[in-house]
This record gives sequence, C-alpha cells and structure tokens, in this order.
Amino acid sequence: MTRTFVWILLLAGFLAGPLSVIAPLPPLASPVIAAEGAPPGESLGNESDADLWRRVRRGESFMLSDPRLGAAVLVQSEGEEWRSIRNGPVSRYGGILVLVGLGAVILFALLRGKVKIEGGRTGRRIPRFTMLERSIHWFVAAVFILLAISGLIILFGRYILLPVIGPSAFGAVASAAMQGHNLFGPLFIVGLLVMLFAYALDNIFQAADAKWIIKGGNLFGGHAPSWKYNFGEKTYFWLVVMTGLVLSVTGILMEFPGLVDTMWYLQVSTIVHATAALLVIPVAMGHIYLGSIGVEGALEGMTEGTVDENWAREHHDLWAEKVMREMAEDEPKGAAKPAPGAAE
Ligand code: HEM
Repeated sequence: MTRTFVWILLLAGFLAGPLSVIAPLPPLASPVIAAEGAPPGESLGNESDADLWRRVRRGESFMLSDPRLGAAVLVQSEGEEWRSIRNGPVSRYGGILVLVGLGAVILFALLRGKVKIEGGRTGRRIPRFTMLERSIHWFVAAVFILLAISGLIILFGRYILLPVIGPSAFGAVASAAMQGHNLFGPLFIVGLLVMLFAYALDNIFQAADAKWIIKGGNLFGGHAPSWKYNFGEKTYFWLVVMTGLVLSVTGILMEFPGLVDTMWYLQVSTIVHATAALLVIPVAMGHIYLGSIGVEGALEGMTEGTVDENWAREHHDLWAEKVMREMAEDEPKGAAKPAPGAAE
C-alpha cells in the first residue's frame, strides 16, 4: 500500500509540474498602446520613447489592448513602486535575514558543537518514522531545497552570480532557475498538502511544550520533556505549512496570470511570495543542520526509520515511554527480549 501511495504521489507531482510549462499563456496578438482613459481607437502612434517615459514618471499609466485580456495596463507607475519595493526592502532585509540565518547556524555549531547522545548508544532501536513519513519528508525536502536555490538565484543572482560568471552564463543559469522554479512549484504544493495531513496530528501543541520552552529545549544541555516532536520542531512544521501555503497561492497566481485581471495582484503576489520564502529559508537552514550533522542520532530516524533508545529518551522522553510501553504490550508473553543491536 505505502509503495503504491508513494508512486501515486510522485506521478501526481510529476504530471502537475510539466502542465505549468505546457499551458503558459499564448503569445500576445497585435497590441495597441494608448494613454489610460483615452477614447477607444486612439493610440500613441509614434510618440517617442522619451516622451512616453516622461509621462510615466509623471504617474500616467498606458493601456495595451489584448484580445484575451481585453484592456491591460502595459506601462504603469505602480510598476516602478513594485520594483522599488522588490529590489529595495524585500531584497535588502530578506538577504540580511538569510545571511543571519546562516551565521546563526555556524555560530551554534562552533559554540555548542554536535549535540551528542549523553547516555551513549544502547544499540536497541525504536521505530520513529514509517516509510511513508520518510518518503513524504524527503520529497518535500528535496523540492523545497531546489525551489529555495532557484528562487534565491532569481532574486539575488544578478547581484551575486552575474558579476562572477558573466552575462551569457548567468543568462543560462537564470532561465534554468526560472524554468526549474516553475516546474518544482506544483510538486511542492502536492508534497506540502500530503505532509500537512501526514504530520499535523503529532504537531499539535501540548502542555509539555511549555516546559520545553522554559528549559530552552535541551539544545543548551539539561533535559526538556517532549512528545514525538518538541516545541521547536512543531513551530518549524507550522512555519513550513503557513509560509508554504502562502508560497503556493502566490506561486499559482504568478504561474497562471490569466487567473487575475489586474497587474496589481501579480505585483503583490511577487512581494508576498519573496517575503514568505525569505522568512522560512533561514529557519530551514537551522533544521537542515540539526537534522543532518548537528544532533547525533537524529538523521537515522529519517533515513532508516528507527532511532536509538537513549536518543529517544533524551530528546523525546514522553514519546519514547509511550512507544516502548506499546512495544512491550505487543510482545507475546514470555518472548525473549531481542539482544542489543539485533536486526528487527
Ligand atoms: C537535507 C535536508 C534535511 C535534513 C537532513 C532533514 C532531517 C530531518 C530529520 C532527521 C528529521 C527528524 C527529526 C526528529 O526525529 O525529530 C526531520 C523532520 C522533519 N523535517 Fe527535515 N530535514 C531536511 C530538510 C527538510 C526541509 C527542507 C523541510 C521542509 C521544507 C523539512 C521538514 C521536516 C518536518 C516537517 C519534519 C518533522 C518534524 C515535525 O513535524 O515537527 N525537512 N528532518
């Protein structure tokens, strides 16, 4: 059942992706440019570009007649506003946030070092993640990382990459990033929704989370109680879900602009999309560090599906007690206890 489900998930995702590339808007037919509010049929004719831009800077907007969109704004002063917000505060503060996130991870790694299993490994394993939970996790993780990298190239590539690799190479990288971003977007939406349903129940906040906060989690030594996920993980989960939904809705609007009738929605979508991404990426960096090399014994839970008993006691004691009780109850009466490190 699980394997079939994983195949359906991948198939759905891979079918959704190409659609977004196959079904873009058809090319525009012969456009007519006229001042906004100009009587039908009047056009700018051969008014010079300089005059056109002088009028734009004076705040005038210009119309484009298009058979599919009816009348759409081609040149509008709000566009200048949008550009100054996107290339201004969003890029500046968002960029700083990403760098601060990276800096915080490096600082934590240097100051705290690897969080070891204090009691050492017991060799006894506890099941933590099913094949389905792991498949969903790595599907979402892979697509998220590809979207984050291609998104950062779209937003910052011209400042960071272009001076280094030059215009023609950057052109190729930027267009690959854009195409890849359009393809991975729908995959992420599918994965995120499945992850929401598969993970939500264990991410509901509980009383023990308050104690975890008071103890500052056990990242700085000491012990903090936790069920399957601690307060930090739950907060990360809901941050991924919330920003993920915002990224999905704004992403769909940008990928299918025909869904809206004014440029305003698309301009706001790009700003909100970039802001949501620049909020979650720094936190994901922390998760990736802790989940890979930062916490001894964590990664095997998401790769092999089981964790060491002592790891579970130290990081998720309330969950470990419950699982070990259930395992003991399932064990047939008088059955010999498996030797430490014995295969399942
Ligand atoms: C290479 C990158 C990544 C690694 C090595 C990694 C590793 C891990 C590990 C080891 C766990 C289990 C932690 C535990 O047992 O409590 C985990 C859980 C999780 N990871 Fe990742 N992860 C990565 C990327 C991501 C990304 C990009 C996302 C989301 C966009 C993500 C979302 C989650 C979620 C939601 C959980 C479950 C925790 C919860 O639901 O509270 N992971 N990850």
